Amino acid sequence: MTKLWGGRFQKTAEQWVDEFGASISFDQKLVLEDLQGSMAHVTMLSSCKILPQQDADLILSGLQTLQQKAENGELEYSVSNEDIHLNLEKLLIDEIGPVGGKLHTGRSRNDQVATDMHLYLKNRVTEIIELIEGFQSAIVEQAETHVETVVPGYTHLQRAQPISFGHHLMTYFWMLQRDKERMQESLKRIDVSPLGTGAMSGTSFPIDRELSAELLGFSGVYQNSLDAVSDRDFILEFLSNASMLMMHLSRFAEEIILWSSEEFRFIELDDTFSTGSSIMPQKKNPDMAELVRGKTGRVYGNLFGLLTTLKGLPLAYNKDMQEDKEGMFDTVHTLMGSLPIFEGMIRTMNVNTASMEKAVNSDFSNATELADYLAAKGMPFREAHDVTGKLVFTCIQRGYYLKDLPLEDLQAASPLIEDDIYETLLPQTAVKRRNSLGGTGFDQVHHQLGLAKKLIG
Ligand code: ARG
Repeated sequence: MTKLWGGRFQKTAEQWVDEFGASISFDQKLVLEDLQGSMAHVTMLSSCKILPQQDADLILSGLQTLQQKAENGELEYSVSNEDIHLNLEKLLIDEIGPVGGKLHTGRSRNDQVATDMHLYLKNRVTEIIELIEGFQSAIVEQAETHVETVVPGYTHLQRAQPISFGHHLMTYFWMLQRDKERMQESLKRIDVSPLGTGAMSGTSFPIDRELSAELLGFSGVYQNSLDAVSDRDFILEFLSNASMLMMHLSRFAEEIILWSSEEFRFIELDDTFSTGSSIMPQKKNPDMAELVRGKTGRVYGNLFGLLTTLKGLPLAYNKDMQEDKEGMFDTVHTLMGSLPIFEGMIRTMNVNTASMEKAVNSDFSNATELADYLAAKGMPFREAHDVTGKLVFTCIQRGYYLKDLPLEDLQAASPLIEDDIYETLLPQTAVKRRNSLGGTGFDQVHHQLGLAKKLIG
């Protein structure tokens, strides 16, 4: 088959060489964006009197036919036509005849592919923002139910201080809020049109780049033609934002996995988001959470892959850049799969409040309360820390917790301690009293939930 660019060639490449260079197996995902870009381009060409109205109309109707066929999955691509752009141009010519060859006037595949990628990512990022928000609302719902459910909070994965479980969950809301904001801010740089910058230097045809940008719904245009065709920052930025988002999901996944274990028993995932073992009949595995944690690796890999591909590329377009696509598609696919899975898992999980209560009443996570109690009565905090530490040590030796120590023993450690210490040591009291701004105190968590709800509309 002769190539659309075959004029200066004497010999044709063998099929296996074509296959190595072709991107059609994966860039066919851009079919609708490519057609959309072509429609805007031809409309602009006719409006600028570069193509006669009649030709433009014919091309437009051909593109519409292709669009319909694409939507019905009726288009047949060929590897010898290399990529989605040449395949569609060939299909257009087959559809309407040689006049289809006028479509590529004042355009190059270099600005064409960049336009497709901008259009594609703009739509996907908008969808991902909605998915993030759906996930945030599931977190708010669970957090609201569990404002007064008290659990041990951890540092170094050691019991630290009692906290509200709702407060713990809301941490992920705020991470996701930042992820969402980063995605929203990145739209500013995605929403820019490279169309009409040609192969690299612009064109001598009297085109109107602002018109084609407007027809495509872009908010602005690239101001430098070389930059327009060689910029892939907007994809890197997406991959970087996606990596941070996946890192957050992975941290959450890790907690879900720990909490579902027999050792914690803080939650039980719904059957519909769990799997069994082929050999151990008792097993209920948090596979979905593990998979999200695992998939974080491929998203980081896609970021590093593209950063490395672009490093050291001279201006302007280089074929290396064809490697920008698979990682981007894969990342979009991974996010669009992971976010609803996580949302469903969180919405349906069962919180085992009895286990949580038991845990928080059988540890030393209230030790800070005792130290603060003494400090509030005038003892220097450093001394209060030491007195409490010694009492903890006594308890460990006797197999007690602080609340089990008789008042005489406590008073022997410090005469400042009175009967009200037992109330102070209760986990519920401890949490309730941490009413500093952003703290885990119930009132603070309610306040935080109020703010969060406004952010998800
Ligand atoms: N398939 C190419 C890509 O994805 C399209 C641009 C090709 N441009 C070129 N001058 N060969 O990057």
